[in-house]
Amino acid sequence: METYKDSLDFLTPLVNNSISNSLPSSNTTVCQFPHVTLSFAQTLDGYISHTSKTPIKISSPPSFIMTHTLRSLHDGILVGIETILSDDPRLTLRLNGILESSPSSVKSRPIILDSRLRFPLESKCLKEYKDGRGGKPWIFTTHVGEATGRIPVLEEAGIQVNVVDGDNEGKISISAMLKVLGNQNLKKLMVEGGSRIIHSFLTSKYNDLPLTNLVIITIAPTFLGDGVKVLSSGGKHSNLPRFTNVKYHQFGPDIVMAGNIAT
Ligand SMILES: NC(=O)c1ccc[n+]([C@@H]2O[C@H](COP(=O)([O-])OP(=O)(O)OC[C@H]3O[C@@H](n4cnc5c(N)ncnc54)[C@H](OP(=O)(O)O)[C@@H]3O)[C@@H](O)[C@H]2O)c1
Repeated sequence: METYKDSLDFLTPLVNNSISNSLPSSNTTVCQFPHVTLSFAQTLDGYISHTSKTPIKISSPPSFIMTHTLRSLHDGILVGIETILSDDPRLTLRLNGILESSPSSVKSRPIILDSRLRFPLESKCLKEYKDGRGGKPWIFTTHVGEATGRIPVLEEAGIQVNVVDGDNEGKISISAMLKVLGNQNLKKLMVEGGSRIIHSFLTSKYNDLPLTNLVIITIAPTFLGDGVKVLSSGGKHSNLPRFTNVKYHQFGPDIVMAGNIAT
């Protein structure tokens, strides 16, 4: 309970202030985008996971509460398809037992970027939705080609499939995807990874403005020595941002850094 309150006190002003810092208040095109928070956990040597398909807990139990409190302040949780395939996350809000009246009654919506529609029907986030504990998963894909036949299969299974434009590299255009979310009235999006998604959200811009409004990084006091690096997209690491309005908070043994992308 104490960590939950501490998390709320730390996170609420960050989420609220970064909206007004980054987005014009007038009714311009940029206002169609949801507020985007990018959040992930890394080790001291910059790894976010093992390479094996066994998910690991990098951060501590207090940081887990912080992360789920952050989820409760957003309407959707976005991951890349490789994270679904390797970790099979539930993508739900799990603050039960921490609060008597838990915001878990609000179901978080899983959002998955999956150009080739590889999403497995046995994924836990789909099961959580069917069992009433999670929101309906939304998949974003590009021009699907051979995978077109998967769309009715996924829709039949209860998933909403959105087809949007690709970017210059054929991946899903982040701005096109955010516009669809904005038009569907999704106001606040939390992006959790993995590595390629982190890179895309750190570098994507629209009209020279960063599309990510707030970045929250949990740094755990440990090393992995090997695994998936926080940035591992083939060395194309130009245009990486610096942060401004930086704040630090300790949750258990972990340091949490929050900041806005400097323009
Ligand atoms: N520590 C943490 O906080 C944390 C959080 C989440 C995940 N992880 C770890 O991250 C690892 C997975 O990272 P990853 O880099 O392999 O995969 P990822 O970022 O989860 O997914 C990347 C895939 O998403 C699809 N995609 C579509 N549009 C994209 C776009 N605009 N930008 C980026 N990707 C796009 C691409 O696949 P298609 O071409 O098929 O569409 C791409 O290969 C796992 O080991 C997981 O454990 C760690």
